[in-house]
Amino acid sequence: MEVKEALAWGADQLAGLDIEDAGFEAEYLLRHVLDLSRARLYAGWHDLLPDGAWEDYVRLIGRRSKGEPAAYLTGHKEFYGLRFLVDPKVLIPRPESELLVELALEYVGNQGPGPCTIADIGTGSGALAIALAVNLPQARVYATDVSADALEVASANCRRHGVEDRVTLLRGDLLEPLPCAVDVLVSNPPYVKASDWQALPTHIRDYEPAAALNSGPDGLAVIRRLLLQAKGALRPGGALIMEIGYGQGAEVMHLARALFPDAEVGLMPDLAGIDRVLAVYTPVESTPLVLPVLEGSEQAR
Ligand SMILES: C[S@@+](CC[C@H](N)C(=O)[O-])C[C@H]1O[C@@H](n2cnc3c(N)ncnc32)[C@H](O)[C@@H]1O
Repeated sequence: MEVKEALAWGADQLAGLDIEDAGFEAEYLLRHVLDLSRARLYAGWHDLLPDGAWEDYVRLIGRRSKGEPAAYLTGHKEFYGLRFLVDPKVLIPRPESELLVELALEYVGNQGPGPCTIADIGTGSGALAIALAVNLPQARVYATDVSADALEVASANCRRHGVEDRVTLLRGDLLEPLPCAVDVLVSNPPYVKASDWQALPTHIRDYEPAAALNSGPDGLAVIRRLLLQAKGALRPGGALIMEIGYGQGAEVMHLARALFPDAEVGLMPDLAGIDRVLAVYTPVESTPLVLPVLEGSEQAR
């Protein structure tokens, strides 16, 4: 069997299923089996598959066609230019969540070169925390998750990217485990509402961890608590950058404005034009002006 024929067969098997780009996924799985870059795969278009590769590929295509996500089959996923280990204990990082990293990097960049403290709430694979730590060598990052299993994966990813000395993983509820107030809070919390659960595509509903997705009747149960806790955990002049679900913008803005009345609050759309991120920038506390009392001055008398 030639590479070209294997690809055509795989794409054919996946076509018509709930898969956005069957050709791309077939190629992705074949490259995984052959351990080849895209360029090398296409350079060997007419090469015969080595022994055992066809069987491995057929097995992966079979699992994929039943709904198992490609990232769980290969064991990794690219996020913000970095390769993360993933397995069914963690949500597969999504491209739209890269917007959180971009906004946080922009915010920290605008603050100047000094040290900064960041917290990633609900870190899962560690994608947000690690992408920020890799790009901000001056940052200390705390990453929390309620799931010990997820933190194991995050820990492996921290080591893989050499940031285990600057990313502290903490198990617990939302912001509760944080040891101090932080400059930047990022989070991609669970935000799927109960009534939307059944309508989720099979590859999400049947394979990704439910605790990473579900968030009560209106999808805002976790976000509400997170915003409440954030109030006490953000330093003045800090930023909260949080992913939200489709149609949650108005309610989340309302909540954020009520909790942070002095802050600049806004929504950012993703590439599809959907409000995807809530950003809250708290004001730098104005210290009351204390005039020195000068001897012999009007004030002193
Ligand atoms: C949507 S996933 C996001 C994972 C990762 N940050 C990403 O963007 O790929 C949400 C994560 O929040 C965690 N989580 C859910 N409820 C939590 C809670 N009450 N406290 C801390 N983490 C929680 C889940 O275990 C899951 O890892």
